[in-house]
Amino acid sequence: MGEEGREKRLGGNTETANEDFAQRRAAAREKLDAIDPHHSPGGAEADPLRKDWFEAVYALAGDDPAGVPWANLAPHPLLTDWLEGRRLTGRALDVGCGLGDNAEALSAAGAAVTAFDLVAGAIVWARRRFPETTVDHHAADLFDAPVAWRGAFDLVHECYTLQALPEALLPQASAALAGFVAPGGALLVIARAREEGEIPPRPPWPLTRARIEALAEQGLAIETIEDIPARDGLVRHWRALFRRPAHRRPLSVKLVRVDRRDAAPPAEP
Ligand SMILES: C[S@@+](CC[C@H](N)C(=O)[O-])C[C@H]1O[C@@H](n2cnc3c(N)ncnc32)[C@H](O)[C@@H]1O
Repeated sequence: MGEEGREKRLGGNTETANEDFAQRRAAAREKLDAIDPHHSPGGAEADPLRKDWFEAVYALAGDDPAGVPWANLAPHPLLTDWLEGRRLTGRALDVGCGLGDNAEALSAAGAAVTAFDLVAGAIVWARRRFPETTVDHHAADLFDAPVAWRGAFDLVHECYTLQALPEALLPQASAALAGFVAPGGALLVIARAREEGEIPPRPPWPLTRARIEALAEQGLAIETIEDIPARDGLVRHWRALFRRPAHRRPLSVKLVRVDRRDAAPPAEP
């Protein structure tokens, strides 16, 4: 049953609808945690890139967005807030776009948007949710993205994908993000924040300030790093903006495909 169908079934009663949604989300979350090897100590090797788990999330959700833990059916409030009063020009890329709400917000702000996700099912779902969209959706892998995207975007936006990836993949993910940014373009990252030394026991893995600062590579310079304290039901977040000087091209090195064994964190002693 689609989102509209469910609303009708609940007779438009918002409170009941919210409760019902929350219950379905909690049930889905429990099942998804149970099949995520990153939830068990030493289990990460079974799915080092977490790809099997992301595929499973969308497959198990069917067409119920409550089954996709990050799907709020609205753009992230810190993106909405950043876009307020801004008019975008040129091309934007939404990385790990999920069900497509952030890409729609970037498009509504004026950008010509390309959006991609690893999971083809997420892309089909996003297109179905926004049939009139001008967003160009693709199933693609951050670690093996089309060469034509290199240095091609005036704004690259990433929300919650880095924090969903195992630590060992972050240098490669960071290089891939920087590589998309055109001369004069910017990278905008929204992620949960944690202190250095805090070790999150299971995913998502909020990012440290050092990890955010390390996104300034391949000629990207930090423009702003906002440390946004918990408020309005949101936990503490980073919202960081990086810019490439107009005269600098991204590195022309080809990213190597991540080998599953190389990506695995070191074995427990
Ligand atoms: C935590 S979700 C965030 C989704 C969306 N950005 C949002 O804010 O709602 C992370 C997304 O990244 C996608 N993803 C994970 N690994 C990826 C990869 N290697 N390449 C592209 N997308 C990936 C997942 O399928 C998932 O949709």
